[in-house]
Amino acid sequence: MTQNPPPAPVLRGAPATNGHLSGAPMHVRGTTAFPIGQELLRNPTLNKGTAFTEEERDALGLRGLLPARVDTQDLQVLRVMDNVRSKTTDLEQYNYLIGLQDRNQTLFYRVLMDNLTELMPIIYTPTIGLACQEYGHIFRRSRGIYISDRDRGSIAKVLANWPVDDVRVIVVTDGERILGLGDLGANGMGIPVGKLSLYTACAGVAPSLCLPVMLDVGTDNQALLDDPLYLGLPHRRLRGAEYDAFFDEFMVAVRDRFPGVLVQLEDFGNANAFRLLEKYEDNACVFNDDIQGTAAVSLAGLYSAIRAIGGRLSDQTIVLYGAGEAAAGICGLISHAMQHEGLSESDARARLWMMDSKGLVVKSRSGLAHHKLPYAHDHAPLLDLLSVVKDLKPTAIVGASSQTGAFTPEVIQIMAANNDRPIIFSLSNPTSQSECTAEEAYTHSNGKAVFASGSPFPNVTYDGQVLHPGQANNAYIFPGVGLGTIVSRAKHVTKEMFYVAARTLADEVCDADLALGRIFPSLERIREVSLKIAIAVARVAFDTGLATIPEPEDLGSTIAAAVYKPEYHSYV
Ligand code: NAI
Repeated sequence: MTQNPPPAPVLRGAPATNGHLSGAPMHVRGTTAFPIGQELLRNPTLNKGTAFTEEERDALGLRGLLPARVDTQDLQVLRVMDNVRSKTTDLEQYNYLIGLQDRNQTLFYRVLMDNLTELMPIIYTPTIGLACQEYGHIFRRSRGIYISDRDRGSIAKVLANWPVDDVRVIVVTDGERILGLGDLGANGMGIPVGKLSLYTACAGVAPSLCLPVMLDVGTDNQALLDDPLYLGLPHRRLRGAEYDAFFDEFMVAVRDRFPGVLVQLEDFGNANAFRLLEKYEDNACVFNDDIQGTAAVSLAGLYSAIRAIGGRLSDQTIVLYGAGEAAAGICGLISHAMQHEGLSESDARARLWMMDSKGLVVKSRSGLAHHKLPYAHDHAPLLDLLSVVKDLKPTAIVGASSQTGAFTPEVIQIMAANNDRPIIFSLSNPTSQSECTAEEAYTHSNGKAVFASGSPFPNVTYDGQVLHPGQANNAYIFPGVGLGTIVSRAKHVTKEMFYVAARTLADEVCDADLALGRIFPSLERIREVSLKIAIAVARVAFDTGLATIPEPEDLGSTIAAAVYKPEYHSYV
């Protein structure tokens, strides 16, 4: 029996490409010898649990540390899913899955990839919302990097503690606007962790290339400040120039530590979100998923809905209920898409309306935020959605307000009276914040609505017909956009990239989907779809000179060969 440590694993069988997305652990600094025995079992990136072979058990000091039978990964998946399904609450399922991620990362991703439709609502919205609310209470093991305002002046040192040098994508939040739940402070870390799990599960970006970051600048949530188990800094939020300097230091430190890394901004409050995006989008590889990812998935949904009901995007009149990050992003991208159809920018904008908590956004209102101005048209003030729907006769209403029940039966009835097939998207998350449920949309429109929501709703049987609500899940977009950006090593992420991502996603919806009322492809196909989006996005990067590496001969097969697969590699 030999106890000699074997060579570093995973590279074996992993494709060697300049994309190098398989994420070999050779980049882990400070690891000299390959771990053996208990240390190996406690290493989540290398652990295979009961699937260690007889030879590995002999060679790696594992004899006796595991039950005698050697499992296949398939059997392990079966055991995990048995356990998941035996849990009585979604939060217990979440905890169990995070526990698995902490023990055996390969198995976690295999389970997630094989059961994405079932597990996405656990790993992401809606359950992630609950997990974030409870984060301080359910916390077991730290994941990612926490940078607090106490680290001002030494953020580079904090980033130096991350053991992996080759990080390609960072998802960062300051926790101020978590889903539609508001300020959850440092508890918001669940969001970057969850989104990066989806980068791996949906687009095959290796876990080692992903870094979740929480910028803990305090919280204005009094309940958290009063909670002894809250894990963040117990003071009010840093604001103004101090915040900006802190964020700037973070961006510089990130650029120096991980040159060329993609930074996805996530769940920032809207005052910061717009400003930060504007400041960095032209000088770093940055995008904001709440603004741009949401826009792309919504545009894709609109394309499919319009395909189902006939007409063109540029014929639509669309009211955005909510005038924040999601709404501004959606309006900006729809306007871009209408210009692709030949409309001028001003004609495109004229078809788009916004409502906020003060009513219809109109020109005569003073003090309107910068992002609302392009959609503030000449019109008499209107205070409520019902009046707006009666007056403007929109073909589509899109809810992004976190106002539960804002799409009242009367609003939906008027939409159905004015349109053969009204488009009703109720995007607010989690489910409890939705402007209306799928059932309400179908029932009050007599089954005519083309409906999509932010969090998933079950199918609805209306008048003997099974209707399939769409989920405008950003996970259809950001992993593919991220992968396309990473493989092309793009300098920036552009509006055109989100436009092609939306087009590609919409093209993946087949007539059979539309016949069932589905306006997004099945989640079962998300890996295939993400790959197509990545290719389209990388193509934009290469064609527009934003890519910083030479274009591979066959872009598609290069990307496909480079992605991470949750397979065990032999260590002996
Ligand atoms: P935000 O905080 O930037 O914007 C919220 C907007 O709602 C603000 O403009 C506010 O004025 C408006 N609002 C508040 N009360 C209102 C009322 N009574 N009537 C009309 N408008 C009102 O938030 P953000 O990022 O725009 O997100 C909004 C919602 O959309 C959240 O629930 C979020 O989870 C959801 N969302 C859904 C996505 C998806 O389905 N794929 C993606 C991103 C966000």
